[in-house]
Amino acid sequence: MTLGIGIIGAAGRMGRMLVEASQQLDGFHLAAACDRAGGSAVGRDAGELAGLGALGVQVAEKVTEAVQAADVVIDFSLPDATERVASACADAGRPLVLGTTGLGPEQQAAVDRLAEQVAVVQAANYSTGVTLLTALVEQAAHALGDSADVEIIEAHHRHKVDAPSGTALRLGEAVAGVLGRDLHEHAVYGREGQEGPRDRRTIGFETIRAGDIVGEHTVLFAGDGERLELTHKASRRSTFAFGAYRAAMWASQQPPGRYDMRDVLGIAGSAAGIESPR
Ligand SMILES: NC(=O)c1ccc[n+]([C@@H]2O[C@H](COP(=O)([O-])OP(=O)(O)OC[C@H]3O[C@@H](n4cnc5c(N)ncnc54)[C@H](OP(=O)(O)O)[C@@H]3O)[C@@H](O)[C@H]2O)c1
Repeated sequence: MTLGIGIIGAAGRMGRMLVEASQQLDGFHLAAACDRAGGSAVGRDAGELAGLGALGVQVAEKVTEAVQAADVVIDFSLPDATERVASACADAGRPLVLGTTGLGPEQQAAVDRLAEQVAVVQAANYSTGVTLLTALVEQAAHALGDSADVEIIEAHHRHKVDAPSGTALRLGEAVAGVLGRDLHEHAVYGREGQEGPRDRRTIGFETIRAGDIVGEHTVLFAGDGERLELTHKASRRSTFAFGAYRAAMWASQQPPGRYDMRDVLGIAGSAAGIESPR
């Protein structure tokens, strides 16, 4: 028996990739697809939208319809869908793999409430490489402490709407957590004009939006006389889709809770070699 996946945001860049991946991976079938109500994708065949030919799954406009038809829901849409998706998953008791980034506090609270009832995997980046990058960044921050300036540089395609990327913010939180800093207090987003010398405890973010860049993240640790740069480059969107399916299979067997890709990969709490932030 294969796991039925319901895709929210099925007509988007990631959604179409997720539809394609459903046909490439063993153990899954596309059970349902949904996109923005009133949008041009509604009623169309999800396979045709993804350039695959008809799969017999029409894009629904009601989130509840797509959620009920699925065993596990994968949502890569936009934050304005999140509360509706969370409430539909809670009502139907369906695990959720959430890829949508840029959530506000109320949207995040809805996800947190859902995680009390079902398994929720939430990751700003579903690639294995970025999951490992985060662990390596924590290890570097732990070893370097306050001796290095930390800057996070990210680049994405021209269509991306949120900045800095969810992944960049997650990397910033990882550094801040290890160094005992509050990211809200210490983050600096871009620089311009007479800003004065850099405060060592700040964590800087630089954003590039250009062309068709799938996603690049560098965490730079610069001290006196040397610097360390840890970089991940995604070259295909399919890496996120395959990671999301891995998370969906894993979530289908988990008790309620909020998890991330480290849990899915089985490296939670160990890869960085750190037991607790100092
Ligand atoms: N976690 C990761 O690994 C990862 C990787 C890549 C992207 N992302 C994130 O995934 C999200 C989608 O990215 P994308 O590049 O695929 O964006 P996109 O091309 O804009 O696709 C989003 C799709 O969701 C639809 N949508 C918007 N609101 C909706 C609603 N309320 N209900 C149902 N569908 C709705 C959009 O319709 P309209 O066009 O009508 O708005 C669009 O078809 C973003 O938040 C992005 O940052 C995460």
